[in-house]
Amino acid sequence: MPNNLFSSDAAFDSLYTLRAQQLSSIHWTPLKIALKAAQFLTEGPGNHILDIGSGVGKFCLIAAHYFPDHNFHGVEQRKTLIDEAIFAQNATDITNTTFIHTNFTELDTALYDHFYFYNSFSENIFHYKPIDNLIEASAQLYDSYLDHLYRMLEEKPPGTRLATYHWQHHQIPTAYKRVQHITGQDLKFWIKS
Ligand SMILES: C[S@@+](CC[C@H](N)C(=O)[O-])C[C@H]1O[C@@H](n2cnc3c(N)ncnc32)[C@H](O)[C@@H]1O
Repeated sequence: MPNNLFSSDAAFDSLYTLRAQQLSSIHWTPLKIALKAAQFLTEGPGNHILDIGSGVGKFCLIAAHYFPDHNFHGVEQRKTLIDEAIFAQNATDITNTTFIHTNFTELDTALYDHFYFYNSFSENIFHYKPIDNLIEASAQLYDSYLDHLYRMLEEKPPGTRLATYHWQHHQIPTAYKRVQHITGQDLKFWIKS
C-alpha cells in the first residue's frame, strides 16, 4: 500500500476515478472526519460497523485502516460506486471491509452493531451537484428511507452507537442520546440508552 495514502484527502482520493475525485468534497467523508467517527464507533461493544450509503467506500476504508480489529461494511445502491470501493480496497490490501450492492431498505441489519450515516438520503430532496441522474429520487423516497432507518435504530439494543455527519433534521429514536457534537464539522455522536 502506498505510504502516504492517508496523508491528505487528495492523496486518498487518488485511488478513485477522476469523476469520483471531483465528487469527493461534497459526497465523500473527509479523512479527519472518518477517523473521528471511527474512533467513536469502535469504542462500543461488538465490532461490525455499517456505513449506510457507503459511496466509493471512503469512510469504510479509512476506518478499516486505522482500526484493523473491527469490520467495516458499506451498503450502497449504485453498482459503479461499489466497483470503485472494491477497486480501492484491492489497491490498499485492506481486508476488514465488505461492500454490499443493494438498497439499504433491502439489507438485513441484524449483523451490525454500530452505524455511520452521512445524510445519505438527502439526494432525494437536494439536487446540488448530484452523483448522477440514474437513480429515482423523490420526497416520498426520502421519507420512506428515513422511516426505515428510524425503525431499524429502534430495534437495536442499548449501547448501539451512531455517528451522523451533516444531518441537521435528524429523526432519531429518543432513546439515542447525543453524547458529542463537533459543531464546526457537523459531526454528532449518539448512544442508545
Ligand atoms: C453522501 S454519500 C456518502 C458516502 C460515504 N458514506 C462516505 O461518507 O464517503 C451518500 C451515498 O448514499 C447512497 N445512498 C443513498 N440512498 C441509499 C439507499 N437507500 N441505499 C443505499 N445507498 C444509498 C448514495 O448512492 C451515495 O453514494
